[in-house]
Amino acid sequence: MTNTLLILPGDGIGPEVMAEVTRIIDWFGARRGLKFGVSEDLVGGAAYDVHGVPLADATMARAQQVDAVLLGAVGGPKYDSLDFSVKPERGLLRLRKEMDLFANLRPAQCFDALADFSSLKRDVVSGLDIMIVRELTSGVYFGEPRGIFEENGQRVGINTQRYTESEIDRVARAAFELARKRGNKVCSMEKANVMESGILWREVVQAVHDADYPDVELSHMYADAGGMQLCRWPKQFDVIVTDNLFGDLLSDVAAMLTGSLGMLPSASLGAPRANGRPKALYEPVHGSAPDIAGQGKANPCACILSFAMALRYSFDQGDEATRLEQAVEKVLADGVRTADLMQAEGATPVSTRGMGDAILAALD
Ligand code: NAI
Ligand code: MG
Repeated sequence: MTNTLLILPGDGIGPEVMAEVTRIIDWFGARRGLKFGVSEDLVGGAAYDVHGVPLADATMARAQQVDAVLLGAVGGPKYDSLDFSVKPERGLLRLRKEMDLFANLRPAQCFDALADFSSLKRDVVSGLDIMIVRELTSGVYFGEPRGIFEENGQRVGINTQRYTESEIDRVARAAFELARKRGNKVCSMEKANVMESGILWREVVQAVHDADYPDVELSHMYADAGGMQLCRWPKQFDVIVTDNLFGDLLSDVAAMLTGSLGMLPSASLGAPRANGRPKALYEPVHGSAPDIAGQGKANPCACILSFAMALRYSFDQGDEATRLEQAVEKVLADGVRTADLMQAEGATPVSTRGMGDAILAALD
């Protein structure tokens, strides 16, 4: 089977960090015999500049056909005054929506060399490796009715939390499948104590477990307690599955347990395509960082680790993904740092290219 990959560098530091990923993709082709059919296209402001829209129809069609889309970042001050309908972020939203990427995977993994960047004590986070699976296409961000309405002479703001059984079922399955490739443990989080959608969530997750994943250890937790436990002793978790709103909050909390934005990858997965591989979009958690764009300062690790996730979840190359993650870990342990990872005064940071060079050297 050929491995197809669509690269969308986007705006700001997107193209800078993606240039390093491209070199790493080439390394896997040359040294590990992993050939990728790579194509590149425009998204965000870069697409707006050329097409007048943040994602052209032709790009959308290509994204639907490839095994994995790898995106840099979108947005920037140049586009802030654009109409909402053509804002760079809309390009990314269109990709997520039309590919129906319902499972957002956000790992929180602590590289030992960076444990002191955490807001928590070293022994609480060192060795941490958890995965938050956030439902991404339904829930309170999409439910109807929504809006601001007039009622009895005052305005009322309304959003609706809404989940169907099938929406819960498919994201639960994604979480159980992942758990089997990791620590075999899932904790499902909702507020079944105060929300009917939470009661249904808990029932469906339990039913999916009992029917098809009885070998995976399943627990349930109220999401507010989950937030506390994430800060108290995060290593108790392996995979956490939760809805769109709670997942938004909890994944940001988990992210900060491990330190820098420049290190955080993500994946968004949809239903399997004809070849059995899921529709998939991989991207760093960070944005286009206009404050450092064009200066060669950006940390490419988040984007590189997003490609490692693609190796594992789209191309079934878990060993090669681990190889790449270990190269990043080694480089950090050797003290190689981009500016965002500097703590000591007076030390010299490496450039984006310098970090790419070091990771390639570690891979060799
Ligand atoms: P941001 O993530 O771009 O930057 C926040 C801070 O972190 C900045 O100081 C930046 O320099 C730093 N930073 C981020 N990534 C870094 C990296 N790889 N290496 C070193 N430092 C890094 O978020 P911000 O400033 O709120 O948004 C900037 C633009 O990015 C906006 O237009 C926003 O809409 C867009 N954005 C896009 C996202 C995406 O493409 N998925 C996500 C978040 C924001
Ligand atoms: Mg958020």
